[in-house]
Amino acid sequence: MAVPPPVVARGEGVYLIDRNGRRYLDGSGGAAVSCLGHSDPEVIAAVREQIEKVAYAHTGFFTSEPAEELAALLARRAPGTLERVYFLSGGSEAVEAALKLARQYFVETGRPERHRVIARRQSYHGNTLGALATGGNLWRRAAFAPLMIETAHVAPCYEYRGRRPGETAADYGQRVADELEREINRLGPESVMAFVAEPVVGATLGAVPPVAGYFRRIREICDRHGILLILDEVMCGMGRTGTLFACEQEGVAPDIALIAKGLGAGYQPISALLCSEEIYRALEAGSGFFRHGHTYAGHPAACAAALTVTQKVSAPEMLARVRQLGATLRAALEAAFGQHPHVGDIRGRGLLVGLEFVADRETKAPFPAERRLHAALKKAAFEAGLLCYPMGGTFDGHAGDHMLLAPPFIMDEAHVGEIVDKLERAFGEVF
Ligand SMILES: Cc1ncc(COP(=O)(O)O)c(C=O)c1O
Repeated sequence: MAVPPPVVARGEGVYLIDRNGRRYLDGSGGAAVSCLGHSDPEVIAAVREQIEKVAYAHTGFFTSEPAEELAALLARRAPGTLERVYFLSGGSEAVEAALKLARQYFVETGRPERHRVIARRQSYHGNTLGALATGGNLWRRAAFAPLMIETAHVAPCYEYRGRRPGETAADYGQRVADELEREINRLGPESVMAFVAEPVVGATLGAVPPVAGYFRRIREICDRHGILLILDEVMCGMGRTGTLFACEQEGVAPDIALIAKGLGAGYQPISALLCSEEIYRALEAGSGFFRHGHTYAGHPAACAAALTVTQKVSAPEMLARVRQLGATLRAALEAAFGQHPHVGDIRGRGLLVGLEFVADRETKAPFPAERRLHAALKKAAFEAGLLCYPMGGTFDGHAGDHMLLAPPFIMDEAHVGEIVDKLERAFGEVF
C-alpha cells in the first residue's frame, strides 16, 4: 500500500513546509513549475487584485485586461512571427490545441490530406489522448495504445547515448535530424502535417539539450516539405534554460510554440499556444475562428498571475541569473559527482539540469528496471529534505534512470550547496 504523502502547509521562498514543520528545498520546482519560489508577494497581489475586480468571465463573451496585456508581452518577446496567442490551463491542453490548430490550418488551406504527426521517441507531451499519442514515452503509452491516434516517432537528439565513437557532435545532429526526412518520405510528405519536439527534453530523458545545428536542420526539413514545426516548451520555456524561449538558443522559430509550467509559476494553472501570423491569417480568411475552446481558457486570475510572472522572468537580469546559477549548479554537481561510479552524465541548460545514473560508467549499462532506482532516489532525497524529479525508462523506455533538477530562479548559491549536500546523503543511502 502506498504511504500517503505529508500535507503541505506553507510555501516560503524556495522551501515547502509540511504540517509537521518539516522543510523541503524545492530542487525541482515540483515538475519545473515554481520558478519564482512559493511566496512571491507581487504574483500573489496580482491574483488577489484581479479576483477582487472580476474573477471569471467566459471568453465567448469577453476578453480581459490581463489576458490582452499578457498576450501582447508574449508576442513581443517570442521569436519569429509567433504573434498570436491562445490561453489554456495546462500543458496537455496546449498540445491538444496545437494538433487541432495544425489540422484546421491544412483543412482551411485546401490540403485536407495532411493529418499525420511525427514526434520523437523518449519525449513527453502530456497525458490526454492526443498528447499521449504524440509523446514517445513507452511506459506511459503502453496501456492506452488502442485508444490513440496514429503517430510516428523518430530518434531524439541524445548525444550521451546516440553519438557514435569518432562522430562529431555536429555530424551526429545532422544524422539524427535526417531521420525526420526519411520518415516524412516513408509516410508520404503530402500526408504529414506537423513535427513535434521539446527543444530541451525534460521529464523523459532528464534535461537533454540538442547539439548545435540539429534544430536548424529540422527547420529546413520541415520547410522543404511544408510541415509545421511545433515546439513544446511546456517544461523548458519561460526562462528555464536562460532565455525566455528555449528555441532562441537554437536560432530557430517554430510555427507553433507551447508554454505552460513556468508561465503561471504554480500560482495559477495556465498555458499558452503561440502561432505564426500565417496560421492565424489562414483561419481568419477561412472559417474565421479556431474550432476549439475550454471553459477556463483565458481565465483572468490565471492571466493576471502569468502577466506578473512573465514580466519578472523575462527581465534580462533574471535570465542572466538563471544562466549563472545554472553554471554554478552544474559545476557543483560535477565537483561532487563527476567521478561517482553510478553517475554517467551531468547535463542540462540553465536551471534545467539532469543526472543520468548507470550501473557501469564505462559501458553506460543502465540499472535494470526492476531495481526502481529512480523511486529509491526520490524517497531518499525527500527524507533528506530535498524535492527532486527522478524518472525511469531513460535508456529504452523501460530500463535506465535519471534525475531532473529545476530549482526556483530565486535561489542563491547557499541553496546550491544545500542541494548537493542533500543529494550526497540520498546517494549514500541508495548506492
Ligand atoms: C514537455 C511537456 N509537455 C507537456 C506536458 C503536459 O503538461 P501538463 O501536465 O500541464 O498537462 C509536460 C508535463 O510535464 C511536459 O513536460
